[in-house]
Amino acid sequence: MRKPIIAGNWKMHKTIAEATGLAAELAAAAAALDDVEVIVAPPFTALAGVVGALPADSALRVAAQNCYCEDKGAFTGEIAPSMLVDAGCSHVILGHSERRKIFGENDALINRKVHAALAAGLNVILCIGETLEEREQERMYDVLKTQVSEGLKGLAGEQLARVVIAYEPVWAIGTGRTATSDQAEEAHSFVRGLVGGLFGQSEAEAMRILYGGSVKPENIDGLMARENIDGALVGGASLQAEDFIRIMNFAR
Ligand code: G3H
Repeated sequence: MRKPIIAGNWKMHKTIAEATGLAAELAAAAAALDDVEVIVAPPFTALAGVVGALPADSALRVAAQNCYCEDKGAFTGEIAPSMLVDAGCSHVILGHSERRKIFGENDALINRKVHAALAAGLNVILCIGETLEEREQERMYDVLKTQVSEGLKGLAGEQLARVVIAYEPVWAIGTGRTATSDQAEEAHSFVRGLVGGLFGQSEAEAMRILYGGSVKPENIDGLMARENIDGALVGGASLQAEDFIRIMNFAR
């Protein structure tokens, strides 16, 4: 039985004060949900503040939205995985389509980041997903296959257990156009099959695969009902407590 995860990616939103206030509200709600793992990903500037504002035994976990693949050095503007651990993060989101598209990250770099984050002790949320053009050209399965096999390349069993995959079709992100639960289930089942082929059946069965792309309180129920959908990576609807708490509660 895979424990569902609801993760909120706040992207480039929220001051430190806004982030700590929202996290405190969510932590109170998450405390009542022991059957769902709840994660928030504030911007870097708010990470330590959010962690500091949570009760010591908080069920709410904190993720960063990115990191670099080196532990220290002359990498102006970058953040090391060990710095995220130092700030109190348990997770890091890697390979988000906005990082791939806007900042030119490729699968090789993402794979180096995955290894570095795991080596530092973080859990990884690895994002994958096809663009609309790739879907229309019927290249979706090739794209997912490459992103999964290259992104997870070189991982061993224990490390894989600390990876969660987020399937986010790029055409559904921030567009209000959610994949239907059939479309999402089809992709998730394909991705689980890929993990099985690469690492083995029990690893595939254990892997949590989240859906992301215009998830809202109105559509989470239909998505969570599907066999291979183990939760959601939520963008816009994670920015206010009310919607995100409704999504958390639907995931039980
Ligand atoms: O990381 C989250 C995804 O990019 C989804 O964003 O819920 O605003 O479409 P969205």
